[in-house]
Formats: sequence, C-alpha cells, structure tokens
Amino acid sequence: MWKTKRVAVALGSNEGDRLSNLRLATEKLRHLADPEEPFLSSSVYETQPVLCPPGSAPFFNAVVEFASHEKPVVLLERLQRIESLLGRPASRKKNAPRTLDLDLLYVGDIIRNDQPPVLPHPLMAEREFVLAPLAEIAPTHLLDGQTIAEHLARLEQSAVRLQEPLASPVDARLFASKLIRTRKNGVPLTALTAYDYPGARILDEAGVDIILVGDSVGMVVLGYPDTTRVKLADIVHHLRAARRGTVNALLVADLPFETYRTPAHALSSALELIDSGADAVKLEGGEEMTGQIEMLCEHDIPVMAHIGMLPQHVLEEGGYHIKGRTPDEAARLVASAKAVQEAGAFAVVLEIVEHSTAALVRSAVEIPTIGIGSGTACDGQILVTHDLVGLYPWFTPPFARPEADLAIEATAAVKAFIRRTQARQ
Ligand code: KIV
Repeated sequence: MWKTKRVAVALGSNEGDRLSNLRLATEKLRHLADPEEPFLSSSVYETQPVLCPPGSAPFFNAVVEFASHEKPVVLLERLQRIESLLGRPASRKKNAPRTLDLDLLYVGDIIRNDQPPVLPHPLMAEREFVLAPLAEIAPTHLLDGQTIAEHLARLEQSAVRLQEPLASPVDARLFASKLIRTRKNGVPLTALTAYDYPGARILDEAGVDIILVGDSVGMVVLGYPDTTRVKLADIVHHLRAARRGTVNALLVADLPFETYRTPAHALSSALELIDSGADAVKLEGGEEMTGQIEMLCEHDIPVMAHIGMLPQHVLEEGGYHIKGRTPDEAARLVASAKAVQEAGAFAVVLEIVEHSTAALVRSAVEIPTIGIGSGTACDGQILVTHDLVGLYPWFTPPFARPEADLAIEATAAVKAFIRRTQARQ
C-alpha cells in the first residue's frame, strides 16, 4: 500500500518579483500537503546563477518540506502546473531567466532513475542553493549515506540568507487576486462551482482559473428550493473538502444569505471562510454592499462582488428575472459595478444581465466581469458545474449549454448494477 511520505521541493526565481513568486508558489504547495502534518519552509536565500547565460540576475531560493500521499509522477505534474500558472512558458532556452523553478528533491526514500522524476534529485548534493535552505528544515535527512548538513559543509558557502519570511499567506492571497486581474491579458477567465474534493480536483486539474464554493450548493447538493437556506456552516463544510482538491485555481467561497448584514458581520463570517481555506469570498449586492467590501479589503480579504440577478433575493423578487433591460436598470448596474470596484472588489459576477448591458458594464470598469447568462462580452464565464455536466437534470437554466449528461450515465450505471445483482440471485 502507498503510504504518505515526506516530500521536499526546491523553489527558485530570477525573473519578475522574485519574493512574490516564491511566496505564491509556497501558498500553492501548501495545498498539495497533508494538512494534518507539519509544513516546513526555509528562509529565502539570494544566490548567484549557476550555469546560466552571462548577465543572468541572481536567484531567490528556498525549500519546503511536507507530507503527501501523491506518487512522484503526480507530484511532478502538479509542480509543472504551478510553474506555468506563475508565468513560466512550456518551452524556453536552457537555463534562461525564469519566474519559477520547482524541483522535486526527494519523496521519502524512493530511489528511481528509469523515468522522470529522477529521485532523489541527481544534482541536489552539489547545489548550495538547495542544500543551504534544506539544511535549515531537514538537516538530518540522509542522502547517499550522509546528512544534508554534512553535504552542505563540503561546499563553499556564498548564499545570502534574507530577512523576509517565505510564508506570508495574506500577501500571497492578495497577489493571487491581482494575478487574476492581470495575468490573462485578454484570455477569458473560466470559473466553475465545486462543493467537494473530487469535484474541485477535477476542475483544478482541468485548468479552470477560479473554483467557487457557491451557495448554489443549497440547490444542487442539499436539495433546497433556493439558496436562502444555506448556512455559513454548510459552506465551511463543503469548502474544507474543496480546499483539499484545489491547488492551482483561486478558491472563492460564497458568503451565504444573512451572513453579512453589516460590515462587522461580513468580517466575522469571511474570516471563518478564510480560516477554512478560502482564498477569497463572494457576496451579492452593489452600492449597498460597499461598506462590507471595504471592511473585508481593509482586512486583506479579497472580495468578488455579484450584481444583476441576486439569487439570495429570489423570494422578494418572485423569480429569476433578466436584469438591465431598461436604460434605468442598465445605468443602475453600471453604477453598482463602479461602486464595488471603488470599494475594492477584485472581480464582479454579472448574473442574468441583458447582454448589451453586460457589455456596457464591462466597458465602465477595469476589474474583470465574470458573466453567467449575461452574454459573451464579459471577461470570463462562470457556471454551476452541475448544469454544465448534466448532473441536476430536474432543472437546467437556458443559458447553461450542458457539455455532458452525467445524470443519464449514472442512472444507466445504477440500472446495470441492479440487473447484474438480481441476475446472480
Ligand atoms: O452560488 C453560485 O453557484 C453562484 C454562481 C455565480 C454560479 O453564485
């Protein structure tokens, strides 16, 4: 049986904001780790480039060590995804400057050299930029019969240890939200909902940008008629599971109905979501929510706003109606989008907004507009995953355009099981 093993990963960056690159990567690596076991991170070191083209900038290096139940090949693939998320192109000149290098140093005591990843990393015993940080957190780890500390003592020492800590989760969260704002350079953002570990992991590995633990959980998972019965504890429960499956995507959690009546109320609810693993929170409302958004941003909690049709108000509104149909409504939506941007939201969801109004809203703000049933002019699209994959066949919103029919497949599998079992008796 495959057991959880201690895994060491070396981080390096010599392009862009080197410290932010290492910090964001550390935050992502944290999501690969078993949360019940210690996650160790070294100091950050500045080191001179080795075997790089002349004039290459110095590197910032660090090492993290954590427990994981993943096999080496899966770990390698997940490290490569983090590298590409942080702007490293799939192919580039050998040893050219890079925003991020992640090297798998060891996975327990596994030795393998027949296929990638080769373990332990074949060059690690020769590299001060690996051994100096690793010696801080795993000095007694054995490599070829010697400890890491002994290997380090053999080398000439020139790495400079910096004062800035590697682990800085709040900075990393803010950086993640800025990244969402800037990194796509015109490539539409993709966002989908997940409420559990397999759901989140499938989306994350498929490469979706944002995973939302939405209060739609109330309808498509818990069987309520609308989202108003969802409690903060429900979101916390589903968020914890989705967190375990999310490494690369930004994980956003919904603040459910009546959990953000005042700015202080919003803060205490949002802190619970952040403590349960959310990178950011989402709330419904425009101008009337600016106090709440400002309060959360003041406490470094990234906020996604949500305007247009507000499902948490469906009972007062008597149904799900298209918004922004009249010039007055369109002007109100533009004003709401500007207000949430001004208050500090890093993105805004536009739900069931008349398509031409959604285009108008988009041109009025700089933050990304993420549409659901609001046409193609938005900077990105979000859907409830159950609608996309046909897992909630009793109601599918007209704009969802399902790409699969999982409920039909599941029903067929269950019927086959019933037939197979009864045939044997
Ligand atoms: O709860 C939810 O799923 C949402 C949508 C925007 C998809 O808020």
